[in-house]
Amino acid sequence: MVRTMSGIQPTGNLHIGNYLGALVNWVALQQQYEAFFCVVDLHALTQRPDPVALRRAVREVTIGILASGVDPDRATLFVQSHVPQHAELAWILSCLTPLGDLNRMTQFKDKSGNQPENINAGLFTYPILQTADIVLYRAERVPVGEDQEQHLELARETVRRFNHVYGDTLPEPQVVKSHAPRVMGLDGETKMSKSRNNEIGLFETAEETLQKLRGAKTDPARLRRSDPGNPEVCNVFAWHGFFTPAAQRAEIDAGCRSAGLGCVDCKKMLAANLEQVKGPIRERAAVLREHPQRLDEILAAGAAKARAAAEVTMELVRGRIGLRAAAAGSGQP
Ligand code: AMP
Ligand code: TRP
Repeated sequence: MVRTMSGIQPTGNLHIGNYLGALVNWVALQQQYEAFFCVVDLHALTQRPDPVALRRAVREVTIGILASGVDPDRATLFVQSHVPQHAELAWILSCLTPLGDLNRMTQFKDKSGNQPENINAGLFTYPILQTADIVLYRAERVPVGEDQEQHLELARETVRRFNHVYGDTLPEPQVVKSHAPRVMGLDGETKMSKSRNNEIGLFETAEETLQKLRGAKTDPARLRRSDPGNPEVCNVFAWHGFFTPAAQRAEIDAGCRSAGLGCVDCKKMLAANLEQVKGPIRERAAVLREHPQRLDEILAAGAAKARAAAEVTMELVRGRIGLRAAAAGSGQP
């Protein structure tokens, strides 16, 4: 069965960008593929999180993944650091990765701009660990938002290089694109992101969301209610595209253009539709929080399955590169 793999960092609260850009696809893909979904705590160390906050974030992100519909009986859901092979393979792949390739990564540039006081080596080699995450499970389908496509291209190149140097061993991973590859933040200028403070949280109440939406940027030319609006350039209308049925969207479109519908009402409608999605997720999350032991069990079972799958790949890789006897029948001395 073809495998799918993806990861989310435990670096804050999940937001609707994570949900639309990644989690919706995770939930769909687990039906069709053998799925490995990972809370990537080693990646989060690049931001030097407070230990207590990190532990908490790992649990909260796991809860968010489950509450969004990932089924632990179908998908293997685990924490990256519970599977030591990720770090082992990352080292091996780092010895195959030219510095020039890492230098091109735009996310490294963005992130070092965001944390100039802590531009560590992990931030630079981050995409190598990400490649290891994928390759360890021999995954061929990787659902991610647009911000990760460059990392995936690097992963593909690394796989090609490995196969060229050591013989055909690993499959090339393909991006599974989301229908919401780049959800913008409340500022309407940058993508929604845990570190930019511009997000609509997945666990927020309807009131909290409405409060935030009140301050959200709309069509910049529409200053008064009586001004006609242009939905194409409006961030709030773009969100309606993800949460509002087509018929209602058409009404909003017409109402905005004719100035019959004001921005406040448009935002209220969005908040209500968002709540249709977030409400049930929030309720499922609350139930999961009441059963910490169940969460421990899910993660322990996930780690055991992931370690077993990872070890199969690692034995093959170690044999190929000369760290162990070559596997029988590999044609290698
Ligand atoms: P991160 O929160 O950076 O660990 O991202 C986890 C997943 O969510 C990745 O697949 C990202 O591509 C996706 N993602 C994060 N932010 C957004 C966004 N604003 N729009 C779409 N997808 C996103
Ligand atoms: N780097 C990804 C992000 O920030 C998270 C991630 C880590 C990931 N390992 C992965 C995504 C493997 C897909 C596959 O969003």
